[in-house]
Amino acid sequence: MLISLDELNNYDRFYRANIINSLSGFKSASLIGTKSEAGVSNLAIFSNIVHLGADPALIGFVNRPREAAPHTLKNIEATGFYTINHIHTDWIEQAHQTSAKYAEDVSEFDACGFEEEYINNFFAPFVKASAIKYGMKLIEVVPIKHNNTFFVIGEVVMVEVPKELITEDGFIEIEKANSCCSLGIDGYYKAEKIVRLPYAKVK
Ligand SMILES: Cc1cc2nc3c(=O)[nH]c(=O)nc-3n(C[C@H](O)[C@H](O)[C@H](O)COP(=O)(O)O)c2cc1C
Repeated sequence: MLISLDELNNYDRFYRANIINSLSGFKSASLIGTKSEAGVSNLAIFSNIVHLGADPALIGFVNRPREAAPHTLKNIEATGFYTINHIHTDWIEQAHQTSAKYAEDVSEFDACGFEEEYINNFFAPFVKASAIKYGMKLIEVVPIKHNNTFFVIGEVVMVEVPKELITEDGFIEIEKANSCCSLGIDGYYKAEKIVRLPYAKVK
C-alpha cells in the first residue's frame, strides 16, 4: 500500500495520527517527574526521548505545544530539574494514566498511584517503583517554530540503576529490569535482546 501526502491529509485525524505516530518506530517510554515552584509534584509519560551525546551526558525530549502538555515543561523551566524513570511492563496501565489532563494542583503521583522518592536531596521526585531512573538538569529549551513543540535538552546529573544489570563494559541490560517500549501513543511492548555487535569498521 502506497500512501500519498494527499491521501494522508484526507484521512480522519486520529487514523492519520496513528499511522504517523507508528512510523518512527519503537521507543522507550518513561515517566518524567517534576515539582512546581508551589511544591506540587507532577508525573507524565513521555516517549519522544533521545540520547544527544555521552560527554557531556545529554538527553533530549520533545514536549508538545504548551496548551496540550503544560505542566512538565512549566515546572522544568521554573525549577531547572526533572527526573526520567523507566516504566516496567507490569504497571503500564498506571503509567499510561499519567497522560490524562489532570489539573495543575493535582499530583499524578497520587492520582495514578505512584510513590515519590527523593534521592540525595535532588529537587525533583523520582518514581520509587522504577528500577532505572536518572536525575536531569535543564540545559536548554529549543522552541520548534514549525509546530509549536519544544525540544527540552538536559544533562544527566545522577543515575540509579541495579548494579547487577550493568555488564563489565558498562552496557545496561535494561530488558532485565522489565523496562517497556512503546509505539505510537497507546501501544506498549516487551523488549528482547537479539545481539550486541562489535564496533563496525569498513571492510
Ligand atoms: C505512550 C505516550 C507517550 C507520550 N509521549 C509524549 C511525548 O513524548 N511528548 C509529549 O509532550 N507528550 C507525550 N505524551 C502525552 C503526555 O503524557 C500528556 O500530554 C501529559 O498530560 C502531559 O502532562 P503535563 O501537562 O503534566 O506535562 C505521551 C502520552 C502517551 C500515552
